Formats: sequence, C-alpha cells, structure tokens
Amino acid sequence: MEKYSKRNIIIHWLTLALLVAAWFLGDALDEARHEGGATIAGYVVHLLVGASVLLMTLARLVFRSKDGIPPAMGNTPMDKVAKGIHYALYAVLVLLPVSGMMVVLGSDVGKAIMSGDATLLPAKFQGVEAHEVHEVLVTVLITLVVVHLLGALKHQFVMKDNIMDRMSLRNKG
Ligand code: HEM
Ligand code: HEM
Repeated sequence: MEKYSKRNIIIHWLTLALLVAAWFLGDALDEARHEGGATIAGYVVHLLVGASVLLMTLARLVFRSKDGIPPAMGNTPMDKVAKGIHYALYAVLVLLPVSGMMVVLGSDVGKAIMSGDATLLPAKFQGVEAHEVHEVLVTVLITLVVVHLLGALKHQFVMKDNIMDRMSLRNKG
C-alpha cells in the first residue's frame, strides 16, 4: 500500500502529541489566571509548545509538496469531505498558533515576559479580540479532529480498508 512519507508520518503523530500538551497547558493557564496564580513560565511553556505546532505544520506542508501524498482512498462525496477536513485542519494548525502570538503581542503578556515581571500578567483579556479568536479556534480544532478520527475509525473498522497503514511507520509490505 502506498503511504505518506516517513517524515510526514512522524510529524502527523508528533503534532497530535504537541496538541494534547498545548491544550492542557492552555487550559491550566486559563485556570491559574482566574485563581490569580499564573506564572511567566506557564505562558512561555505554552507558547513554545504552540509555536512548535506551527513550525511542524510549515515543515509538513513543504515536505508534503516535495514528497507527494498517496492517491485519495476513493472519489465519493465522503472522500471529498475527508479531503476538505484535511485542508481545514492545516488552516487551523497555522491560524491557532498565530492567534496565540497575537494574544501575547496584543496584551500585557508580552511585556510581562520581556521584563520577567509576573505582576504585569493580565487578570483579564478584555478587549483582546485575539484571545476570543484563540478560544474559538481551539473548539474548531477539537471538532475537526473528532470528525477526522471518526472517519479514520470508520475506514479502519467498518470499511476495513487498512487506511491506518498509510499513516503508520510499521512496514507491512
Ligand atoms: C496550536 C497550538 C495551541 C493550542 C492547542 C492552544 C490552546 C490553548 C487553550 C486551550 C487555551 C485556553 C483558552 C482559554 O483562555 O480559555 C489557550 C490560551 C492561551 N494561549 Fe494557546 N494554544 C496554542 C498555541 C498558542 C501559541 C503559539 C501562543 C503564543 C505564542 C498561545 C498563547 C496563549 C495565550 C496567551 C492564552 C491565554 C491564557 C490565559 O487565558 O491566561 N497559544 N491556548
Ligand atoms: C486522533 C487520532 C488520529 C488518527 C487515528 C488519524 C489518522 C489519520 C489517517 C489514517 C490519515 C491518512 C488519511 C488518508 O490516507 O487519506 C490521516 C491524515 C491526516 N491527518 Fe490524522 N489522525 C489523527 C489525528 C490527527 C490530528 C490531531 C491532526 C491535526 C490536527 C491530523 C491531521 C491530519 C491531516 C491534515 C491529514 C491529511 C494529510 C495529507 O493528506 O496531507 N490528524 N490521519
């Protein structure tokens, strides 16, 4: 079976791990801020994990165009929906970290990090629209990933076409 390139398979699964980490770290930050206990380290770690998602995605798009991708599983309307979901995932994987960077630049978080002064960290993100956009994009991402996962499960267990082999490093010949 034709597969995705090795480097793109590695990035696909690494992205999943990074997203889980960024999600938990982001939620923890939000909670800590509401309890008045947010730290600069907390913001920096979330920022670095989130920025790695962006770097990985940009690398992945370059590798994708150089290495190519296996032909579509089929040509049904559902296959087209799956493809649309893939493009939407790529768009959110870029826009979500970018909106996070805009939160940092458009609020006092940036100042607090630059000066190392945690007392400058904002208690609220009132008027910082990027914060709302960031939150909405998190929900959009989770929704897309759930639909994507359901699609993969349907292929694997209902249609039994071994789609997972295309995104797996194991070589089954
Ligand atoms: C793609 C990766 C990312 C994911 C999945 C993610 C996820 C999250 C989540 C779940 C939250 C909590 C939302 C809330 O405030 O209720 C959050 C907040 C935040 N994120 Fe991200 N984020 C990502 C990337 C980034 C990046 C790259 C930056 C900055 C460069 C960033 C900066 C922030 C900031 C400043 C907050 C506000 C925290 C607070 O409420 O105090 N995020 N993020
Ligand atoms: C949750 C577990 C996941 C499973 C089981 C899974 C499974 C798969 C499989 C089997 C494919 C190959 C589809 C094909 O050959 O047509 C694929 C492709 C893809 N996956 Fe996932 N995936 C998961 C999570 C994610 C996550 C978290 C993201 C990003 C947010 C993601 C983004 C993509 C993209 C963009 C493609 C299309 C690759 C391309 O054609 O360029 N996946 N996934």
